[in-house]
Amino acid sequence: MEVETKGIFVNGKWKVTERTYVLRAPYDGKVLAHISKADVEDVQEAIGGAHRAFQTMRKMPAHQRSDILSKVVEQLKERREEAAQLLSLEAGKPIRTARAEIGRTITTYQFAAEEAKRIYGETIPMDAAPGGEGRLGFTWREPLGTVVAICPFNFPFNLVSHKVGPAIAAGNTVVLKPAEQTPLSALLIAELFQKAGLPDGALQVVTGSGREIGDVLVEDERVKKITFTGSSEVGKQIKAKAGLRRVTLELGSNSGLIVEPDVPIEAIIPRCVEGAFAFAGQVCISLQRIYVHASIYSEFAERFIAQTGQLRVGDPTDEQTDISAMIHEREMERIDSWVQEAVAAGARIGCGGRRENSIYLPTVLLDVKPDMSVSCKEVFAPVVSIVPYSSLDEAIEMVNDSVYGLNVGIYTKDLEKAFHAAREIQAGGVIVNDIPTFRVDHMPYGGVKESGYGREGVKYAVQEMTDLKFVSIKTQL
Ligand code: SIN
Repeated sequence: MEVETKGIFVNGKWKVTERTYVLRAPYDGKVLAHISKADVEDVQEAIGGAHRAFQTMRKMPAHQRSDILSKVVEQLKERREEAAQLLSLEAGKPIRTARAEIGRTITTYQFAAEEAKRIYGETIPMDAAPGGEGRLGFTWREPLGTVVAICPFNFPFNLVSHKVGPAIAAGNTVVLKPAEQTPLSALLIAELFQKAGLPDGALQVVTGSGREIGDVLVEDERVKKITFTGSSEVGKQIKAKAGLRRVTLELGSNSGLIVEPDVPIEAIIPRCVEGAFAFAGQVCISLQRIYVHASIYSEFAERFIAQTGQLRVGDPTDEQTDISAMIHEREMERIDSWVQEAVAAGARIGCGGRRENSIYLPTVLLDVKPDMSVSCKEVFAPVVSIVPYSSLDEAIEMVNDSVYGLNVGIYTKDLEKAFHAAREIQAGGVIVNDIPTFRVDHMPYGGVKESGYGREGVKYAVQEMTDLKFVSIKTQL
C-alpha cells in the first residue's frame, strides 16, 4: 500500500511540488510513495522562512522549547509502531532493528527537551588578572540562527533527532534535508513538531536530491551552521564551501576492534557478529576490522563464522529477519567488486561473499591485507575481516593505520592495557570491553581525521549550535 504524502514542509504548510520521484522499497522494489522534489526556489523559500522564524525562536523561553520537544516525545511514543514500520519499509531495516531505532529517537528528543533547560554560562573571576578588578564577567550561550541539517538514510529517525533536537533546544531554526531514500520519516517528524506547537518556519523539510539544491543549502549566507552526516568526500566539500560558518561533520569510518587473549571468546562472539552485521553493516561505526591475538585467532574466526551462519536474511518486515536489503543496487555492486578484488589479491571468504537478490550475504574475509579496499576504505556493507596480531602495540598500529578515526573497541580484562590502548588509539571514542558500534545518545560522538569534525550527543551538539557571549560589567564607575 502506498503511503500518502503531502509534499515538502515549508513555513508550516505542505506543498506538493511540480516534480516528484517514486520512492521504492529497497527490499522488493515495491512503490512506497510519490515524493516531492524541491527545486532551488523551494529551498530558498525554506531558508528565508527559517531565517525569519529565528526572530521568534531566539526569544522563545527555554521551558517552552523544552515543552515542544516533550510533546514530540509523547506523540512518537504513541506512534512508535507506525514509525518503525515506515522506517523498515523505506530503509529496508529489519523491523526489530527499526523498533530499536525508534526507542533511541524517543530518548534523543527526551534528552533535547532536558538539555533546553540547562544551557548554562559561567562567571569569570575577572580580578584574576591585573586590570580586571571591580568587574563582573559572565557568559551565556546564544543560538546561531538557521541550521541546515543534511541527514543520511541509515538512521533516518535518530540521526535527524540528533540534529533537529539540539537545534530546537538551543533556539535555532532548521532546514532539514533528509536522504532521498528515506524522506517519509522526516516528513512524519515535521508533522509531530507542528502538532507540538513549533512556530511555522522553525522546521522546514525539503525533500529531493541534486547538486543544485545541495549547493543552495550550503552556500546561502542566511544559513549559519551546517550539520551533516555522510561521506568524507561530501563532508570535505561542505567544509570548503562553509567558509567561516560553523559545520559539524559526522563522516565515515572503517571501525576496528582489538581482541586480547584474556577474554572468554564465547562471551563476546554474539556481540561482535551484531556489530559487524546490524543493518547490513550500513552504520558509520559498523565493525569492519577485527584484530584478534594470534593465540586465539583460529578459534575466534571459526566461532565467528559459525555464528554468522545463524543469521537470518530476508524481508525487513519479517520479525525473524536479522539482515535485509542493501539500500541501492549500486552499493551492492560496489561492495561485491571490493570483495572480488580482495579475493583476487589473496583474501579468503570465510562465509558469504555473494548476493541473493537485494541482499548481500553476511561476509567474513580472512587473509585480508591493509591496502585492500575492504580494509582501508569504509565498506558500509555486511563485510568484516578478521586479522591476527602478535602484540597489543602491533594491533594498535594496525587500527591507527587508517584515514578514519571514529570509534574503536578493545576487549581486555587488563586495565593497564585498556588505558594504554585508550591513550594511543587515534579516534573520537575508545570503547573498552565492547564493540565500536556501541553508542548511547547522550555520549559525545564524532571523529578525528577523515571521520569528521565536531561532536554530536545532545549536550555537545547544543554547544556546537550556540555561540558563547561574554558580558563584562564594571560594578563602580
Ligand atoms: C551512524 O551511523 O553515524 C550512527 C550510528 C549510531 O547512531 O548508532
